Amino acid sequence: MGRNGAGKTTLLKMISGASAPDSGTVQLGASLTMGYFAQQSLDVLNPDLTILEQLQQDFPQDGIGSLRSLAGAFQFSGDDVDKKIRSLSGGEKSRLAMARMLYNPPNFLVLDEPTNHLDLATKEMLIGALKDFEGTMIFVSHDRTFLRGLGSRVLELGGESGKDRTPRVYPGPYTEYVQALGHEAPGIYS
Ligand SMILES: Nc1ncnc2c1ncn2[C@@H]1O[C@H](COP(=O)(O)OP(=O)(O)OP(=O)(O)O)[C@@H](O)[C@H]1O
Ligand SMILES: [Mg+2]
Repeated sequence: MGRNGAGKTTLLKMISGASAPDSGTVQLGASLTMGYFAQQSLDVLNPDLTILEQLQQDFPQDGIGSLRSLAGAFQFSGDDVDKKIRSLSGGEKSRLAMARMLYNPPNFLVLDEPTNHLDLATKEMLIGALKDFEGTMIFVSHDRTFLRGLGSRVLELGGESGKDRTPRVYPGPYTEYVQALGHEAPGIYS
């Protein structure tokens, strides 16, 4: 959690290795496999491929039937899978990126505002899929439904002023954090 500019994206980039810390070190467990989702990860999709072609390129061992079901589970039905990635909306691209990440899920997910651009139905589908996820997950979200559904511990950067240098940890779920605070965290929408 934290206001705009508090450093949430920066923290996740350091965890994922996308940015190096100015000081200190990042140490990840040896058996960890990571999936990182951020808006910029949509750029790794190849705009010239269709949805199905992208999935076939990502998972060459898997049959077309399995890949169609994967696409279907992420709400690309029928002819949708033949759409070129360059023509997809932001929400559709996010859905495809999530489908790729959750097909053979890693054991550690790092998600930076994963519900941006998603409509309510997709958001709820994603929350459901992530509830079943058995690994560890760290995410940044300003979305109340997402936080209430999945936030089991809260790390707050910047505090209410946005300027506190020391991060605060609430060991309980987001709903308890809201109770302790007496109101919803700053910048949260439903
Ligand atoms: N590479 C960089 N070098 C210097 N400053 C940076 C760099 N990247 C980000 N910043 C600054 O660090 C601060 C934190 O940025 P960050 O993107 O981590 O915020 P955030 O908490 O994710 O905000 P938001 O809620 O808007 O996504 C901002 O003031 C930003 O301008
Ligand atoms: Mg950010």
